[in-house]
Amino acid sequence: MAGSDVVEGTPNRVEPRASGSATLAPARRPRDPVTAAVRAGVAEDTAFGSVMPPLYLSSNYEFQALGVPPVYDYARSGNPTRATLEGALAELEGGQSAVATASGMAAVLVALHLCRPGSVVLAPKDCYGGTYRLLQALAGRGQFSVRFVDFLEPADVAEAFTPDVGMVWIETPSNPLLRIYPIHDLCQRAAAVGAVSVVDNTFLSPALQRPIELGADLVVHSTTKFINGHSDVVGGAVVAADAEAGAEASWWGNCLGVTQSPFDCYQTLRGLRTLHARVEAHARNTAAVVDALCKHEAVRVVHYPGLESHGGFALAAEQQSGAGSIVSFELRGGLAATRRFFDGLGSFSLAESLGGVESLACHPWSMTHASMPEHARTEAGIRDDLVRLSVGIESPDALAGDVNRALDATVLNRTAGQAIPFA
Ligand SMILES: Cc1ncc(COP(=O)(O)O)c(C=O)c1O
Repeated sequence: MAGSDVVEGTPNRVEPRASGSATLAPARRPRDPVTAAVRAGVAEDTAFGSVMPPLYLSSNYEFQALGVPPVYDYARSGNPTRATLEGALAELEGGQSAVATASGMAAVLVALHLCRPGSVVLAPKDCYGGTYRLLQALAGRGQFSVRFVDFLEPADVAEAFTPDVGMVWIETPSNPLLRIYPIHDLCQRAAAVGAVSVVDNTFLSPALQRPIELGADLVVHSTTKFINGHSDVVGGAVVAADAEAGAEASWWGNCLGVTQSPFDCYQTLRGLRTLHARVEAHARNTAAVVDALCKHEAVRVVHYPGLESHGGFALAAEQQSGAGSIVSFELRGGLAATRRFFDGLGSFSLAESLGGVESLACHPWSMTHASMPEHARTEAGIRDDLVRLSVGIESPDALAGDVNRALDATVLNRTAGQAIPFA
């Protein structure tokens, strides 16, 4: 994606609005995404000419006179630092506007408020556990009803898109099984029944997938992950393809009080500048790790859309510009082997989350997806011997070596030094 359509001297100009989020000024011409990420808000400070945009922490702003409000009046409703981040995210996703939220789940909450009350939300069976829990909780309160669908099963899909569907929730690649769902096809089906289509683009970021170009109405992010990339901020964003939906999302962000703090926006903007450089390093390392996993006898199956053996390989090649750096796999030897794998790791930390510079390993069954009832996890294909890795930007040799050592440890019974029979 990088390196095309470079237009020199086109600042990431964002017109501030008194309440709600930033809207891209109509005069701005497109520029390549790498430049857009690096230069978001650069050299736009009108007060002192600072090259990097300042951080505005003030919660409120002085009115010039009664009835003459400032551009921003109150930081929940609007803030210059947040507006710069929102403008950058809208530009990178190819949307009209964005609202930055206090967490990825806050972004999910805002997006769900654009679903007409009483309608049906379609969501994949294997979506992120927190999204699953929120959908169930809001459906339980009567806000809408929810149907979990296997978007790869043609009969399920044909049945699912009924006229009462108000929103179609798409998460691709899915968490944690890396299933690839057809964004263009599902968004077209959503439009045909008058439903809002939403794509959670957390796993890839706009560096590797641009759902709005494929027909999505809204893109949701946990910016906690690749967008910030340094595992030191929790945040989210909703990007809207059209101005009306964008205004609605911003209105809900303000109304619900879930807009992101200026300081967290500042940090996230700082992380965003290196997104494309990080994604390249993640890709290099993931290739080394996936290779190690595929070659090791302790691994039963690897879920990674960059592998030809993966069911979504062709579709991923079509709608993504890279396979990403999240990989999951199942071990031979069940839960006991899985424990030994985690114990054997040195360069991966056993922790939730993903998309940071540091490599992480997690056990979806007991960690990220524990909020799904057991039957839902089983139905979604999430097993207790499934391991998910978020491959960071450390040295590829260190990471591949670490994975190999930990896999060796699953095969050998440490105390007896004997091979454990595979199931
Ligand atoms: C795909 C996806 N969407 C949304 C979220 C929620 O984001 P947050 O933890 O920032 O609230 C997560 C968190 O892991 C996620 O993986």
